[in-house]
Amino acid sequence: MHETAGGGEETMLRKTANRRIHIFPDKDALDKAAAAFFAARCAESIGTTGRFTVALAGGSTPQGLYHLLGSEGFRTRIPWNRVHLFWGDERCVPPSSGKSNYRMAAESLLTRVPVPPGNIHRMQGELPPSEGAARYEETLRTFFTGPRLPVFNLILLGLGSDGHVASLFPYSEGLQERERLVVPNYSWAQANPRLTLTLPVINGAETILFLVAGEEKRSVVSRVLCRESSPARLPARAVCPVMGDLLWYLDKAAAGEIAAG
Ligand code: 6PG
Repeated sequence: MHETAGGGEETMLRKTANRRIHIFPDKDALDKAAAAFFAARCAESIGTTGRFTVALAGGSTPQGLYHLLGSEGFRTRIPWNRVHLFWGDERCVPPSSGKSNYRMAAESLLTRVPVPPGNIHRMQGELPPSEGAARYEETLRTFFTGPRLPVFNLILLGLGSDGHVASLFPYSEGLQERERLVVPNYSWAQANPRLTLTLPVINGAETILFLVAGEEKRSVVSRVLCRESSPARLPARAVCPVMGDLLWYLDKAAAGEIAAG
């Protein structure tokens, strides 16, 4: 089934209960569609609640989207004073580090849009991991008032080649956490300890949007979307919003065999 989505690019759409997969011809088309989706969800959330809460993804894939959101068209179209920016995860490094997800977002987006500093809720990777996680947990519990889990309007996620999402790595302790909102997490494959939202928070979002691009992700995309495997081995398979929607934005290079429909 084909459906035109964001930016008029034709995409291949495969729908299940609350999961939709959109495949774009290339990364540029994916970024444009993701920016259009971000702006639309932002307008909808602000229209309903007066604010838009989004958890940003780290890594390299979302940089194109962030840069686009900071460009003329979106910079003026989005009411940034109503937007609250959080992070899905962070490396335990100072914000000035080239490895920092905050720094990546700051360079590609935050320094280019008029989002008030009080609306930027950074994970403090410079703190000892347990303290950084506890501080961010407090930030979330204070911002999202009420005893229940935080409900983000939108959580952006990338996909690691090993199937990790945020900093929930295969067979890692953080992947099993069901009480805390934010935990320190470790992986032998990562140089630095990490801070990460836990699955209950991720799956509590109104909308989860995966952004995955490039030939090097073809194999893991196929394993996550088409083959059975345990979430312990492929954490992305544990991403299943309780009430919300799950969207996959893939470019053709990453979609590979599933593009054959
Ligand atoms: C991080 C991210 C991580 C990332 C994936 C994909 O801190 O690196 O949160 O989960 O989204 O590793 O990374 P790329 O987009 O660079 O492929």
